[in-house]
Amino acid sequence: MTQKKPTGQAAGPALVLEGVRKRYGDKQALDGITLTVERGEFFGVLGPNGAGKTTLVEIMEGLRRADSGSLSVLGAPPWPRNMALLPRIGVQTQSSAFFTRLTAREHLATVAALYGADPAGVARTLSLVGLAEQGGVRVDVLSGGQRQRLAIASALVHEPELIFLDEPTAALDPQARRALWQVLRALKGAGRTIVYTTHHLDEAEALCDRVAIVVAGSVVALDSPGRLVGAAKAPTRLLVPADRITAERARGFEGVDRVVVEGGSVVLETRAAGPVLAALGAAVGLDGVRTRTATLEDVYLELTGELTGSEGRA
Ligand SMILES: Nc1ncnc2c1ncn2[C@@H]1O[C@H](COP(=O)(O)OP(=O)(O)O)[C@@H](O)[C@H]1O
Ligand SMILES: [Mg+2]
Repeated sequence: MTQKKPTGQAAGPALVLEGVRKRYGDKQALDGITLTVERGEFFGVLGPNGAGKTTLVEIMEGLRRADSGSLSVLGAPPWPRNMALLPRIGVQTQSSAFFTRLTAREHLATVAALYGADPAGVARTLSLVGLAEQGGVRVDVLSGGQRQRLAIASALVHEPELIFLDEPTAALDPQARRALWQVLRALKGAGRTIVYTTHHLDEAEALCDRVAIVVAGSVVALDSPGRLVGAAKAPTRLLVPADRITAERARGFEGVDRVVVEGGSVVLETRAAGPVLAALGAAVGLDGVRTRTATLEDVYLELTGELTGSEGRA
């Protein structure tokens, strides 16, 4: 199917938000969000529970109205409800609604029909999300993970340019999660724009061009995972088998910031991994030594811990 394929030359970014705010009663859910998502970008929204991710995504989708600030989705405001925009965006919400008495195939065909999409897309999309064999199964009999995949299929069946997924991998087992990664990478490869939320930091690191970390309704970091990790204070951890070195001796190496004993390892934390590894190699050899470089998860914990005061790793 080639209909509605984005040209990649469409004017302007996919999303532009400026100072978007949203309050529920006395809860300031979004406290002035400013960001731009380019066309073709894979954009991750990360943050602790209650940070405002779903509110943010639902405002982008046109499902909620911002109290203030400005918002442009594919060049147009999504509110008041913009019917022209609907076929161009795909939405998987955190609490998806299904036609539970229909089969998976009938459900998806209904969604496709609502969008006026090619019915041929139904079988293709079912197989894309790994539900080819469940097409004839009633929605209320599907497992949680299968329903999740059907919800994702419902966001993709009409081949939208801009795809929103709110924790799409939350209920998936590791295999289904990896399979979805392939689907999402293929969509990105085809030029689609993807905005998605997740609690899986490894996944965000593997998939996203850029991520926004949201804490208490504000963006506290926004960059590519690589640059966020590179700029982070998080050290590299060198794990040395405990029978090879004592913690006291490890502390003596120049460039070692901290030494802890974990399980069967003496762990050397350092921001000078090269020199420390060289010294370690000369002193005790490197057999069995494992290296853990900083990850997006370290950056995330540093930022969210500091700012929420919970479980910080000070
Ligand atoms: N409809 C609502 N009415 C009142 N409070 C809400 C509503 N939706 C969300 N909230 C509150 O707004 C904050 C942000 O929620 P949400 O956007 O769902 O965060 P996240 O998706 O990051 O977990 C939370 O404190 C939540 O309890
Ligand atoms: Mg949410």
